[in-house]
Amino acid sequence: MNKRSLLFERHSVRKFSEKEVPMEDIKEIIKCATSAPSGKNIQNWHFVVVNDKEKIDHIAKLVEERNAEIADEMTDEKAKASFTKFLRFATLFRKAPALILVYGGPYEPTGLNILQDINAPQEEIEALTKPNPAVQNIGAAIQNLMLAATDMGYGTCWMTSPNYAVRKIENYINLGKEGFSLMAMTPLGVPEGEVKFPPRKDIEEVMTVL
Ligand SMILES: Cc1cc2nc3c(=O)[nH]c(=O)nc-3n(C[C@H](O)[C@H](O)[C@H](O)COP(=O)(O)O)c2cc1C
Repeated sequence: MNKRSLLFERHSVRKFSEKEVPMEDIKEIIKCATSAPSGKNIQNWHFVVVNDKEKIDHIAKLVEERNAEIADEMTDEKAKASFTKFLRFATLFRKAPALILVYGGPYEPTGLNILQDINAPQEEIEALTKPNPAVQNIGAAIQNLMLAATDMGYGTCWMTSPNYAVRKIENYINLGKEGFSLMAMTPLGVPEGEVKFPPRKDIEEVMTVL
């Protein structure tokens, strides 16, 4: 088996057994996450591990609360029904034995201050900021984390939909790291039941040769 096969083994896991994940495994998984590349090697990530059932449940409740608040303000009944229906995709971590919240800190793209100093066109400034390298660093770390977890027999699911409850979640976590905010989270645990393999677009569709 070649090493690339790991890339195809990882898929989103949304159901977990109750089996606890030992802290040494969690540390190993986070160590793998931190070997990801980052602009100027800034490593602007921070991982919050929650492995207490009640705390995980509380975070799910915060998402439910915010979902209900938002739904209350919605006037389009169809959109409201869809928003509340998809709540389960924002709280699926509830039954997982562990939850990892990934925070990202600031990172200024190389050359940004220079372009600002010379009053470069807005278009050029946007070309540096729009691809958001700070967030790209976090994405690389999350992918590493998920691949490491797969390799160790665990399931994960990259989740950003709970982020609409960001204020409630951040207040509860109370990280206290200046400039850091919640980027994504993933449940972590031994997969239970069937894991789906959603299809991918053909290579021809996503690749251009110049
Ligand atoms: C940035 C990002 C955010 C995602 N957010 C959610 C989410 O909130 N809830 C969820 O169930 N899946 C979420 N997913 C998982 C995607 O639905 C999943 O990766 C995609 O359907 C492909 O399936 P696979 O991961 O099983 O290969 C997210 C994935 C990414 C990369």
